[in-house]
Amino acid sequence: MPSGQPVVETKELTKQYGRFVALDRLTMSVERGQILGFVGPNGAGKTTTIKILVGLARPTSGSARVAGADCVREARKLKRLVGYMPDTFGSYDNMRVGEYLDFFGAAFGIRRKQRARRIDEVLETAGASTYHDLYVEALSHGMKQRVAIARTLLHDPEVLSLDEPANGLDPQARIEMRLLLLDLAERGKTLLVTSHVLPELARICQRVAIITRGKLRAFGTLEEITRQLHPLRPMEILLTNADRIDRVVEVVKKYVEPGAEISPAPAEAVVRFRTAKREEELAGLLTALVAAGVGVTQFREVATDLEEAFMTVARSSESDEQEGELARNASEAEPARSASEGPISPTRQRGGLR
Ligand SMILES: Nc1ncnc2c1ncn2[C@@H]1O[C@H](COP(=O)(O)OP(=O)(O)OP(=O)(O)O)[C@@H](O)[C@H]1O
Ligand SMILES: [Mg+2]
Repeated sequence: MPSGQPVVETKELTKQYGRFVALDRLTMSVERGQILGFVGPNGAGKTTTIKILVGLARPTSGSARVAGADCVREARKLKRLVGYMPDTFGSYDNMRVGEYLDFFGAAFGIRRKQRARRIDEVLETAGASTYHDLYVEALSHGMKQRVAIARTLLHDPEVLSLDEPANGLDPQARIEMRLLLLDLAERGKTLLVTSHVLPELARICQRVAIITRGKLRAFGTLEEITRQLHPLRPMEILLTNADRIDRVVEVVKKYVEPGAEISPAPAEAVVRFRTAKREEELAGLLTALVAAGVGVTQFREVATDLEEAFMTVARSSESDEQEGELARNASEAEPARSASEGPISPTRQRGGLR
């Protein structure tokens, strides 16, 4: 598949269980070698999406393609192209790791002669070479996660869908898992990763999708998403001391938008403000402060993290739902998915909030 083309692409993907809409017109795409962090509260629809993308569930409507294969019509082809790590390991008694992987290798149609070598390779990639002869039931949770990753790699899939790979891992194991996922992306694999460990996820993802109640609420780089959430960037000026803090406020006032909130904190020798000004203009402000003889030790944007973005999106979707509920109650009979809402614009795909 040529580079630059999406490897994973969903259009208006919808899944209903009876009348319940678990996934509501999800449209998104991921490019080769990217790691997509799939984030959302419990019950948001992450596992549902992943199951459709690996051919284990059929959408009610809409379409999805992974590595060129249609997730509904080409389910057999799809299974060769994707590796799926479910959120539970299952129970495999009286089976050694090597036998366990051999069993799945055979299921993937890998010839007996090649299987032993392939098993060694994937165990090595997953940092689990020493587990080969251990019984699966005797592995710790973190060791099982590694074996599960090794299993998804057996048939050398292009795309890996990993449902909560960091779940239940200790801090050291989480770091190792993070490095393993980065290593896989460097080898050209495309990764879809769900996780509730947001700081961890934010460190490895090129793209983030935030989903709540089956709807995609935000998609893009973390920076794009946080910019959309807070068009006014929070800035901080740290001073050598608070003696001339009033002068700093005066200078800042000249540079930022009229009426912008400027908060001096003399006890910390810090001035905080929010602005939509670009870097060059802010560089001008710094120059002006220095010219005014103010001692500036730091001048920086306060980074918003994925956790904050997640909470903002979750809160705003909660209040949207409540408003929607009120409107529905008022007009009684509106269906859960009205055609009049119109399709999600593909141009809004590039980043931002829904
Ligand atoms: N087989 C099913 N039958 C009926 N409802 C289902 C089924 N599978 C999932 N659901 C519902 O669909 C919604 C989305 O579930 P899903 O498992 O995709 O959530 P999730 O985002 O993976 O959550 P978690 O973070 O808890 O893993 C939930 O409300 C769930 O109850
Ligand atoms: Mg899930």
